[in-house]
Amino acid sequence: MNNNTLKFDTHNDIEETARQQKFMEKAKAYVEELTCKLGRKPTYCVTTFGCQMNARDSEKLAGILNYIGYEKREEEQADFVIYNTCTVRDNANQRVYGRLGFLHSLKKKNPDMKIALCGCMMQEQSVIDKIRQSYRFVDLIFGTHNIYKFAELLCATFENQGMVIDIWEETTKIVETLPLDRKYPFKSGTNIMFGCNNFCSYCIVPYVRGRERSRAPEEILTEIEGLVADGVSEIMLLGQNVNSYGANLEEPISFAELLRKVEQIEGLHRIRFMTSHPKDLSDELIQVMKESKKVCRHLHLPVQSGSNKILEAMNRRYTKESYLALAEKIRREIPDMAITTDIIVGFPGETLEDVEDTIDVVRRVGYENAFTFIYSKRTGTPAAAMDNQVPEDLVSKHFDMVLSAVQETAKAQVKKMQGRIEEVLVEEMNEKDPSLVTGRMSNNTLVHFPGDAGMIGTYKMVSLDECHGFYYLGHEV
Ligand code: SAH
Ligand code: SF4
Ligand code: F3S
Repeated sequence: MNNNTLKFDTHNDIEETARQQKFMEKAKAYVEELTCKLGRKPTYCVTTFGCQMNARDSEKLAGILNYIGYEKREEEQADFVIYNTCTVRDNANQRVYGRLGFLHSLKKKNPDMKIALCGCMMQEQSVIDKIRQSYRFVDLIFGTHNIYKFAELLCATFENQGMVIDIWEETTKIVETLPLDRKYPFKSGTNIMFGCNNFCSYCIVPYVRGRERSRAPEEILTEIEGLVADGVSEIMLLGQNVNSYGANLEEPISFAELLRKVEQIEGLHRIRFMTSHPKDLSDELIQVMKESKKVCRHLHLPVQSGSNKILEAMNRRYTKESYLALAEKIRREIPDMAITTDIIVGFPGETLEDVEDTIDVVRRVGYENAFTFIYSKRTGTPAAAMDNQVPEDLVSKHFDMVLSAVQETAKAQVKKMQGRIEEVLVEEMNEKDPSLVTGRMSNNTLVHFPGDAGMIGTYKMVSLDECHGFYYLGHEV
C-alpha cells in the first residue's frame, strides 16, 4: 500500500460504528442460542500480552463480549479465550505458542470452546502461516487494524466451520465508540494516536501498527469527559510517540496544546501519558507540564542507548549529549519530576565501550526506574539484517552491568522522598499482605500502606516511611 495515497480519518467513523452495532445484535442472538444449549451463560477470558495500547484494545474486546452476553472470567477455563498478542520481542511470541498448547488441551475437553488470536503478532505473515499449519484448532485470527470488527468476525465463526482469518495491512478508519469494559473504574487509558512513523531500526511496531495517525482533539476531550462522568479521575493518554501528536490533523495542534485542553476538564485529577520520544520533546511541553496541576510528575523518556554510534545505528535521531541536556533541563525546570526509561542491551555492534556510555547516562540522569531489555532480532527490521550481531554470553554480561547500575541509581533516587507526605491514588489490595493497600504517587512510585478495600479509587495523603528500592512502605496521615 502506498502511504502517499492514503487519507487517514481523524474522526470516529459513525457509519462503521452503526454497522458494527448491527453485528453485535446478531452476535447476541448466537450467544443466546449457545446459552440455551449450555444451560448457562458462556464465559470468556481475554489475555493481554503487550503494552498499554494492547491493554486498551483488550478492553474493547471485553466490552463487546459483555454486551453480547458472555460472562467474564480471569482464568482460561472458559468457553471463549482470546489472546491479544505482542511481538515487540521474541519472548512475547514464544509465550503465546507455549500457552496455545495448553489451550488445545482445554478445547479437547470443551468442544464448544472458541479460541481467537489478535494483536500485533498476527500482523506478521510468518506467524499466520505457522498457526495455519500447526495450530489448526484456533477459530479466529484478526489483527490490530480491524479490532473494531470483532462482533462481525465473531458472527463469522458462528456461521463457518474452520478458521476465520482477517488481517489488514493498514486502516484509514477510527472506530472508538463501541462498548468498553474498563479494567479499573477509577483510571483509564485513551488512545490519542495510533501507529508510528519513527522506524527505529530494531523495532517491529511501525510494521504491525501502521502509520502514525492522530485522533481529532475534540473527540479525545469528549471521550475523557465521558470517562470522568463515569468515575475516572486519572487518565493516561496513549500513543507510541505522543510528542508528535497532531501533526497529521487538518488543523495541526501540538501535544502540549492538547494537554492544556485536557487539563481544563473538570473532575479530572491526574493526567499521564505514554510514550515520549526524546527527539520531539518540546520546550512548550516542559512549560505545560511545569504549570500543570494535573499532569503527573512522571516522564517516561526511553533512551535505548547512551552511545552515539549505537543511537545512530538505531535511527533514534538524538545524541547522548542532546538527551542528557534534555534530562537536565527537565530536572532543573521540574525538580520533582521522576524520569524513567527503556534501555536495550545487545544491539548489533554494541561493545563494552558503548555499554559504558549507557551506564554513564544511567548514572548522570539518575532514573527513578528503568526497563532494561535484551535486544531481540525482529525479522524485517533493518537491525535484523546487520551482520555484527553480539554473542549471547557477552550480551548477558553487559545486561547484568546495566541492570546493577540501574538498581543502584534508582534506589538512591527513589530514597530521596523518604519522610515526605505524598498524595497516593489507591489502586488495589496488596497482593501479598491483605492488611495493606497499594497505590501510586503522582511520580508513579508504588506505595503500600495499611488500609482496606473501601479505599480503592480514592486519594490519600501518605507518609513515606521506608524506602524498599523501587517502592515505599508508609502510613496514611
Ligand atoms: N514507542 C515507544 C516504545 C514501544 S516498545 C518508544 O519509542 O519509546 C517499548 C520498548 O521495547 C522500547 O522502548 C524498547 O526499549 C523495547 N524494544 C523495542 N524493540 C525491541 C527489540 N527488538 N528488542 C528489545 N527491546 C525492544
Ligand atoms: Fe518503535 Fe521507535 Fe516507534 Fe517507539 S518510536 S514504537 S521504539 S519505532
Ligand atoms: Fe507489543 Fe504491539 Fe504494544 S508489539 S509493545 S503490543 S504495540
